[in-house]
Amino acid sequence: MKGKTPSESRTTTTDMVLPSETNHLNHLFGGELLARMDRAAYITAQRHSQRIAVTASVNHVAFNNAVPVGSILSLEASVSRSFNTSMEVFIDVWTEDRISGVKTKVNEAIYTFVAVDEAGKPTSVPELIPETALEIERFNGALRRRQLSLVLAGKMKPAEAHELKAIFE
Ligand SMILES: CC(C)(COP(=O)(O)OP(=O)(O)OC[C@H]1O[C@@H](n2cnc3c(N)ncnc32)[C@H](O)[C@@H]1OP(=O)(O)O)[C@@H](O)C(=O)NCCC(=O)NCCS
Repeated sequence: MKGKTPSESRTTTTDMVLPSETNHLNHLFGGELLARMDRAAYITAQRHSQRIAVTASVNHVAFNNAVPVGSILSLEASVSRSFNTSMEVFIDVWTEDRISGVKTKVNEAIYTFVAVDEAGKPTSVPELIPETALEIERFNGALRRRQLSLVLAGKMKPAEAHELKAIFE
């Protein structure tokens, strides 16, 4: 199966924040942002694998900044590494100043998707070929993040998570 670069499947979405999507402080609900990130990442994983993709895990999410009602919100989802049937996807989130157009990064998340066939059985995906310095950095960190996710899910023994353990030594 031919390898693919992140730019071949990258997905960007831009949408505004409506009052019905906010809390009592008029800030975007965390769950609404999780859903928007899941949709963008899902499209990216399907583009990379050219298969049906399902969300296997939300590995990391940081709500670093509140997003006020009326904000213009842009999401960019990119595959950071693929394994056998799974793909790690980074989602970077920015708000955009309505007057100047200047973008400020407000949130970031990492999801894992698995490519499946019509029966829901995991199926292999193309290798990811990182190109830029950021893509290479995220690619290199993906193995230990996968091990952490599998250990937390009870699918890997901590003793087998060698790359993860190495960062504490
Ligand atoms: C995700 C799913 C397909 C995995 O099926 P499974 O029978 O556990 O399959 P496997 O154990 O063979 O794992 C398949 C891949 O998923 C990866 N995976 C499974 N759980 C994971 C987790 N918590 N974190 C990271 N990777 C995970 C495995 O490492 C494996 O990757 P690899 O093939 O690249 O090595 C299955 O659990 C599923 O269909 N879940 C429901 C998905 C869904 O409905 N999502 C929407 C939620 S609302």
